[in-house]
Amino acid sequence: GTKLIIDTDPGVDDAFAIALAARSADVELLGLTTVYGNVPLEATTRNAQRLLALFGRKDVPVAAGAERPLVYPFPKPRDYAVHGEDGLGGSEGLPDPLRDIEPVDAVTMMVQLLEASDEPVTIAPIGPLTNIALLLAAHPGIREKIARLVIMGGAVAGGNISSAAEFNIWADPEAARRVLVEESVPTVLVPMDLTHRCAVDAPWLDSLAASGPVGAGLNALTTDYRAYYRTILGSEGMVMHDAVAVAEAISPGILQTQSWPIDVDCGFGPARGATIVDRRTPEAPDGGGRPPIPPTVDVAVDTDLDGLRTFVHD
Ligand code: BDR
Ligand code: CA
Repeated sequence: GTKLIIDTDPGVDDAFAIALAARSADVELLGLTTVYGNVPLEATTRNAQRLLALFGRKDVPVAAGAERPLVYPFPKPRDYAVHGEDGLGGSEGLPDPLRDIEPVDAVTMMVQLLEASDEPVTIAPIGPLTNIALLLAAHPGIREKIARLVIMGGAVAGGNISSAAEFNIWADPEAARRVLVEESVPTVLVPMDLTHRCAVDAPWLDSLAASGPVGAGLNALTTDYRAYYRTILGSEGMVMHDAVAVAEAISPGILQTQSWPIDVDCGFGPARGATIVDRRTPEAPDGGGRPPIPPTVDVAVDTDLDGLRTFVHD
């Protein structure tokens, strides 16, 4: 099975993503590393530990990473409570952690896990990219041990946290630029353009809740998140961004991708944190086409939507 590390800031959709990996027989989940993001680091770390307890995975270590972005302060988002005050709205029902956090930081644990592995490991970053930038900057040789990065982040046609930027990239654009542009690790970027199309509705969540204690435990976290998405989607349901990326990490090829040049806006104008994806292909209708010039990333553009929902549900 795929060897996998998830770098995460749980987060309700992070919880669904971790569930997918923690409960899949095809995955060897080596560890979780945590980062600030949806809520501060202390909360995301405790959330990660408690989620693993819900999933019965005492064997999976958790190490805490960055508490803020690389260079500039974290601009606290206007709607910081999207995932509820503690990041997992209504998390009262979650069990306490089954084990302590590791005595080493996230980057050190990633290095240890990668070096101990006899085959390359997939990393799925589903929060701000601070830990991943630090890993690649401080340990250049470690690239060879990474099979690929499958990142939830970015927006091709307009963002969520701002008109141009998606939250994970916007939170630390300098880190994102390091990872997506300056590094050369094989990367699949799963942008919000696709994840939004993979929204799930109330019947899907009801059926998950009825599937057993884990499904019920996950559904119980969604109250605040669903209230937010009710205003976005105009109906009852939610977008499970991070689970779409982890589905690809577990089941390579479940998403269709296109290889496009990419840059990240690190300026201080209205597009800070935007992913600039160059979609001028030789086939482009406007005559502006040209062959893609590296660096490129594989941007996820499509999937079998119902098949993906079933994959996550089951
Ligand atoms: C991303 O931002 C966070 O709120 C979610 O957990 C996801 O990783 C979506 O923009
Ligand atoms: Ca996340």
